[in-house]
Amino acid sequence: MPPKANAHSVSPNNPCPFLRALVSAGMLPDDVASLSEVTEVITRVEKTGDGHPNLPGAAIRAIAAAANGLNPLQVARNAKGGVQLNALRNGPLDKKGAGSGILDAEANVVATELDRLDEFASDKVSVSGEKERGLDLKELVHMMNENFTRAAGRRRVIDRFLMDGEWPILLKVMGKEGKDGRYLSVAEVRQLFLKRKLPERMMSQFAL
Ligand code: HEM
Repeated sequence: MPPKANAHSVSPNNPCPFLRALVSAGMLPDDVASLSEVTEVITRVEKTGDGHPNLPGAAIRAIAAAANGLNPLQVARNAKGGVQLNALRNGPLDKKGAGSGILDAEANVVATELDRLDEFASDKVSVSGEKERGLDLKELVHMMNENFTRAAGRRRVIDRFLMDGEWPILLKVMGKEGKDGRYLSVAEVRQLFLKRKLPERMMSQFAL
């Protein structure tokens, strides 16, 4: 059965575009989800992607365990009680504007930042011969470097490393195999941010 059609509300304190889509589709709760649930849902979603990508479950669990605070007590609390998806903002993974800036601090989409994606994109050709704008790994790395550079004075060193666990992972999960390699479709990324929706080609394969 595909995910429920009705969009569920998503906390503005969840700044992850991917998790926001999962909450909106009712695949994850808006508040607290156990680490097993988060890992299981993400693993099942990945498998619906082009080429059936597979992220290591242990890495997803580790991120979810550390997402609400790095002190051992908080990590243990997440491991036992689950990750608070509606309290990720201001947590250790929050780059506080040092990322793409597409979502502002209230999780509203900033149109100019969303449009800026296209500045890093180029024409791509899908396997079926369809032409569209897309971002391959090299273009995503260029964008992440530029995002880090423009955040000088308000960034942490770790922010550049955190980015490597965001856009390149989205490329793995939501990317399309193009004639010249894997790319993220700009249209699909726009939909992810604006409508909080993963591509229909993936959702139609997801069984609740
Ligand atoms: C337990 C799993 C996850 C947690 C706790 C998490 C958490 C977060 C947080 C807190 C941010 C905000 C960072 C910021 O704005 O500075 C973020 C951003 C992001 N995440 Fe996730 N995330 C998870 C899994 C994923 C997965 C599996 C993907 C890809 C499929 C993903 C893709 C992204 C992307 C693309 C961004 C946007 C960065 C930007 O706008 O520059 N996340 N995530």
